Parts: sequence; structure tokens; C-alpha cells
Amino acid sequence: MHQAKHGSFKDESAEIWVVPVFSEKRALGSFATAIDGMLNGALNDARAEDESTGKKDEVVVFRGARAIRAKRVLLVGLGKRESLDREGMRRFGAVIAREAAAKSKKIAVAFGDIDCADEETCAFAQALVEGYDLATYDFDRFKEKKKSLGGALLLLTGGKKSASYASDGIRRGVACAAGQNTARDLSNMPANHGTPDMLASTAKKIGKSLGIDVRVFGPKEIEKMKMGAFLSVSLGSPVPPRLIQMQWNASKKKLPCVAIVGKGLTFDSGGISIKSADGMDKMRHDKSGGCAVIGAFEAVAKLKLPIRLVGIVPATENMPGGNANKPGDIVTAKNGKTIEILNTDAEGRLVLADGLTHALGFKPDVVIDLATLTGACMVALGSHCAAVMTRDDELARDLVRAGQSSHERLWRMPLWDEYVDEMRGSQADLKNLGGRYGGALTAAAFLEAFTEKSKWAHLDIAGVSWDDGTRLYNKGKGATGFGVRLLVEYLTKIAER
Ligand code: BES
Ligand code: ZN
Ligand code: ZN
Repeated sequence: MHQAKHGSFKDESAEIWVVPVFSEKRALGSFATAIDGMLNGALNDARAEDESTGKKDEVVVFRGARAIRAKRVLLVGLGKRESLDREGMRRFGAVIAREAAAKSKKIAVAFGDIDCADEETCAFAQALVEGYDLATYDFDRFKEKKKSLGGALLLLTGGKKSASYASDGIRRGVACAAGQNTARDLSNMPANHGTPDMLASTAKKIGKSLGIDVRVFGPKEIEKMKMGAFLSVSLGSPVPPRLIQMQWNASKKKLPCVAIVGKGLTFDSGGISIKSADGMDKMRHDKSGGCAVIGAFEAVAKLKLPIRLVGIVPATENMPGGNANKPGDIVTAKNGKTIEILNTDAEGRLVLADGLTHALGFKPDVVIDLATLTGACMVALGSHCAAVMTRDDELARDLVRAGQSSHERLWRMPLWDEYVDEMRGSQADLKNLGGRYGGALTAAAFLEAFTEKSKWAHLDIAGVSWDDGTRLYNKGKGATGFGVRLLVEYLTKIAER
């Protein structure tokens, strides 16, 4: 797999060599200079003749470097050196994947020419590998022809010490991308395959291989646990629900404890308040919050982060069967609160209500939920960031920061008493439908009723969980796995505190 080492191009047997260049007219780095020598000055000529300008994502290919075994040399533009950040490195990784992954078993990268300080080396190597591994993912399990997997990266550094920083970055990047690709793979599953039970068995399988404690509860147990809100959503479907419970470092009670709760709707038809046909297939992705929780566990366990992590995924379909919720029905949640269901399509908050109450039982220091909760959030923010709602300024700050580093960005939206007031029921304690406007905010206010006094944040990921494949490292269209990198970044910072 991917590796970093201190060395020169001369000794390597890679078929493809990748050389980063910047848009300022600066001298070529030492790796590039060495290759330029072997190519009789072709790199410098390309720079001088403005064929290679170094602007972001630009690629210039050289062939015929017979003296050095490589089949081709790629000059890849990274823009201005001073504005290069982790996201620029992820894009770099994705460009390498697009140009070279399928064509070579081993791809050497002149990483040393990026000229990083020590701290930057680890973060940049991590981001590069994330971009590469995310870009080589394809959801092709149902296709006859499958693409071959990407070749391994060899990051060549300028010194021994930077090679060891880069190796650490690679380890982190591989773990994050693997977790994120797991989340994407699960979220991409069509509803007839990606059932609640399938989510549960995948969580179990991952748990078994990585030492995560996973327990799964079925409808009878969910009923016994008095999760009346969650259970009610599942009744319209013949496919049984599952409550997935994951624990990392369960016995280490002294470690800081974070609980993550993910909405796991394997299909959301809307129920009796049925959705329109247009784009309804996308509602297989309504489990993306839950998939991000499972993916984050994989990454956290691979990295052996010293934190206590609890994961809860209430997984079910929302269908209009004969036993389905009906508008006007009143259900009782696990914490005893009653809810008037005015719209059966506002089901995410019902399953999360009981998921959150269950999570509180573990006495976590922080609770974070992730959910494709509202169309209103998509209307407000589009597809370039998710919303975070919390009353806790410190938690908001930490999560927004983690979003910047991971480039899974968050934008804070208000959670105020006025929104809470909108969610009071007329015949029950709460109703599941707010007024016409501010739907993402009233949804968050509803959830707050199930968090007692805990330090809690809600992430509405409706706009960011899948896309049309226009992003560099989400080539295959479909699920993005949003939330995995963000959570791992946030949890890593907690572990370092
Ligand atoms: N899963 C949907 C939210 C959603 C819609 C996510 C489109 C991504 C894309 C959720 O369960 C839902 O249907 N919410 C309703 C709530 C409304 C009835 C209060 C919505 O947003 O329309
Ligand atoms: Zn819905
Ligand atoms: Zn939904």
C-alpha cells in the first residue's frame, strides 16, 4: 500500500512519476530538476513556453523517459504555493487518481518538492492520500465490469524525518478514506439491498475485525425499550427495523466520551404523507447520517484513538403500509414525551428522538447527531456545507474548525427558544411539524427536547450527503460519506487534549 520514503527518482521502479509545480515562476524543486535532467530539459521548456503554468489541477504529460524506466511523467499544477492547503492536497490526490490510478501499480510522487514544514508534512500527506483513495472509489458492485483498484502511492520526501511525518499522515489518510468509503458504499446501497439488517451486519463485521463492541436490537427489543417514536416509523414497512449500538473503548471509563447518533432511514418514501415521485430514488441516501457513524467508527478504531466513543443508529424504512403512522397519530417517545405526528414525512426527528435518549444512557460528555433531516436545510445552504445547530458556543467552534480542516464545512444556524415554542403540540407535548419557514431550525428545536441538559450539537447533512459527481474526489456520483472526516478530525482533537 501507500508508502513514504526518503529517496530519489533514480532508484524507483514506478511506472508513473508525478511532479507538483506551482503557479509562481519559481525554480523547479530538486526532484523536478533531477527529472528535467533525465528528460533533456523538457520540464523547464514546458514551463518557459507556458505549457505548464502550474495553475490548479492542470496536468501536462511527458512520455519517452526511457532512461528512467517510467512510462510517463505528469507535471501537476497546485496553484500558488502560499495558498496551498489540505484541500489543495486532496484535489492533488484526486487528480493523480484520475490520471494515473488505473494505469500503474506504483505511482511515485515528488512530495519533497512541495517543501513542507514538519507539521505540515503529516497533514498534507494525509490529505493527499484521502483525495486519492476517495477518488479511486467506485460503486460498481452491481456491475458486471468492475474497474481495477488504484495503484499504490510512493511519496518521496526530501529527508528521513519528513518521510516519517509523511508515513504518519498516510496512516491517518488511509484510515479516514477507508471509513468514508465504507460510509459511501453503505449509503449508495439501494433500499432492497441496503436494509436495516444489512447496515447492522456490516457494523458487526467491521466491529469484529477492529475490536468495536457492536450490539443490534430488533423490533421486539425496540418495543421493550419503549422507543415508541422510532418504532412507529418502522410499522409502515414489512422490513424490520434495527437499533445499532457501537462502542469503542467501552470499559475505559476515564477517557472523554462522545456519542454520535446517525439517522438511518434506509428508504424514506414519506409514508402516508408520501413524497412526489420525482427523485424519490435519492431517498435511499436518507441513511447517510447512520452510515457516517459506522464509517467514523471504522476510522477511529483503525487509528486506535484514545477516546470513548458511542455510536447509535436507529435504522428503518419509512413506508405507507397498513400499519403506518397516520397524520394526527400521537406516539410516546422513550423519554416519556408525547408527539403528535402531523406529517409522516418528518420521520427523521422521530427516530432520532429515541436514538438520542438511548445515547444519553451512556452519560457521554458530548452528543452529536448527523441527519439528512430537512429539505429546508438544502434550500438554505445548498450543497457546499452542512448546518450545525447547538446552544454551546465552544462545541460550535470546535466543530466548525474541524470542518475547515477536513473540508467538510459547517455553517452555524440558530437554535433559540422561539423555534422550540413552534414545536409544542396542541394535544401532545410536541408536534413533529413546525411552521412554514425555518424548517431546519424547528427540526433542531424538536430534537433538543430529547437531549436533556447535555452538550449537544445537531448536524443537518441533507444538502451534502450525495451529489452529481462534479466533485473531484466524488467521481462516481452518489454518496459523499460526508461527516466521517469531520468527525475523525474533531475526535482526534479531543483525544489530543
Ligand atoms: N429525508 C427527508 C429530508 C430530505 C429531503 C433530505 C430532501 C434530503 C433531500 C426528511 O425526512 C423529510 O422528508 N423532511 C421533510 C420535513 C417536513 C415534512 C417538515 C422536508 O424537509 O420536507
Ligand atoms: Zn421524510
Ligand atoms: Zn427522511
